[in-house]
Amino acid sequence: MSRGLPHAPLVERFAAAGQGGVFAFLDRLDAAQRTELLAQAGEIDLAEVARLHRTLVAGAGTRGPGLVGLEPAPAVPLPVNGGDAAAWARAEAAGREALRAGRVAAFTVAGGQGTRLGFDGPKGTFPVTPVRRLPLFQVFAEKLIAAGRVAGRPLHWFIMTSHQNHAATEDFFAAQGWFGLDRGRVHFLRQGRMPAVDFAGRILLETPGTIALSPDGHGGSLRALDRSGALDLMRAEGVDTISYFQVDNPLVRAVDPVFLGWHLLGGSEMSSKMVVKTDPAEKVGLFCRTAGRLAVVEYSDVPAETQAEREPDGRLRFRAGNIAVHVLDREFVRRLAGGEGALPFHRADKKISTVDAAGLPVQPSKPNGVKFELFVFDALPFARNALLLETSRADDFSPVKNATGADSPQTACDDQLRQWARWLRAAGATVEVDATGLPASAIEVSPLFADDERAFAAAWRKLSPPPAIRDGLVLPASP
Ligand code: UTP
Repeated sequence: MSRGLPHAPLVERFAAAGQGGVFAFLDRLDAAQRTELLAQAGEIDLAEVARLHRTLVAGAGTRGPGLVGLEPAPAVPLPVNGGDAAAWARAEAAGREALRAGRVAAFTVAGGQGTRLGFDGPKGTFPVTPVRRLPLFQVFAEKLIAAGRVAGRPLHWFIMTSHQNHAATEDFFAAQGWFGLDRGRVHFLRQGRMPAVDFAGRILLETPGTIALSPDGHGGSLRALDRSGALDLMRAEGVDTISYFQVDNPLVRAVDPVFLGWHLLGGSEMSSKMVVKTDPAEKVGLFCRTAGRLAVVEYSDVPAETQAEREPDGRLRFRAGNIAVHVLDREFVRRLAGGEGALPFHRADKKISTVDAAGLPVQPSKPNGVKFELFVFDALPFARNALLLETSRADDFSPVKNATGADSPQTACDDQLRQWARWLRAAGATVEVDATGLPASAIEVSPLFADDERAFAAAWRKLSPPPAIRDGLVLPASP
């Protein structure tokens, strides 16, 4: 059929690899559809797909670092939990110095599909704050503008998108006037994608003319930073330190001087923040030590009995929960992206929309195939002096994952309100709160007013008279 045509070698290579099904409907496609399908097929590394099928689907599947010899990972504790306050102060000073020197860029991974939230649009455009209903991207933009003002120079912000949401994300920023950011310092990079396969290893079609491709996981960010030229741009701009966070966490300290300082003073190539896990059933990855290296093990890979083990003092033994906040050294990312210590793919069984033998759509009711993803935390065991720092959940972590229930827009709204109520009370304001610290009034504090408790107290003192705490109060964008 395709012999002699320019695409014949590609089609034949797929057939030889047992993936001829990808072109089952080629004859039915118009010219544009063919071009698209051939371009998608051209992206696929057939040897990699075969290897992943062999090792992760057909084989027993090596997942994560394995559990043999697994120990809890030690972390630098917060001063309130026994950490050395002077060392924390030194770290903060070092982090602020790095920010002043322009060595730090922010990096947001926003290429996920957000299926659990079920929001129609890139997750970063989801309205997340209680009063102004600001989208996640604007919350981060304001945090970065504020950090740039304190540092005396604006930061570069790199945002990883996917094929699905790249254009919508860029359009959103343009429509919002780049949230007041310097447009030349906002950089979008598109992550790679991987084909889904059925349980027999055959690449699935999403429609007769398109392959079921999905983003290659947040771990794809390392190679995306390299391939897109972002690392070279950083080098040209004097940036050597990358502050990594996820698009779904409005509480995150997007660039935290203390964390940056610990990372830099420790000579670390990759550092991570952890929160103390108190509920053994909480679904967060666990920081562990294995073969002398820091690593993250997915909660689903750790037996429930192990997760429930306790120290004599009652604390969970494996309690260092991963909140996906990291600092990465630029050249470490380049080395990993270049193949040194290649990250392993993970397998996720999913319901994947596909077509039947006649090309008609199939919406499976149970998993019918496998997606392959890279996870950024798998870089940790390769990092020199990998460092783990404790943070307070209330100040750094409240993700929007699900439409309702835990880790939902409601819990993220409440956690933002609790944080601002705490800041107000610490500054001496009278705020009525319930037993969980939730204020009776819906209030909002712009990151441009203050982005931590200390800065808040200073900014609050300048308001005279201070405003009454009432529903809808927004502490201003410009104090
Ligand atoms: P999640 O693991 O929560 O996945 O991503 P998700 O795709 O956003 O949501 P679900 O599972 O479909 O509901 C954690 C972070 O990693 C980013 C996400 O955008 C989010 O910031 N991510 C995830 C990527 O950037 N690319 C990916 O391929 C996967």
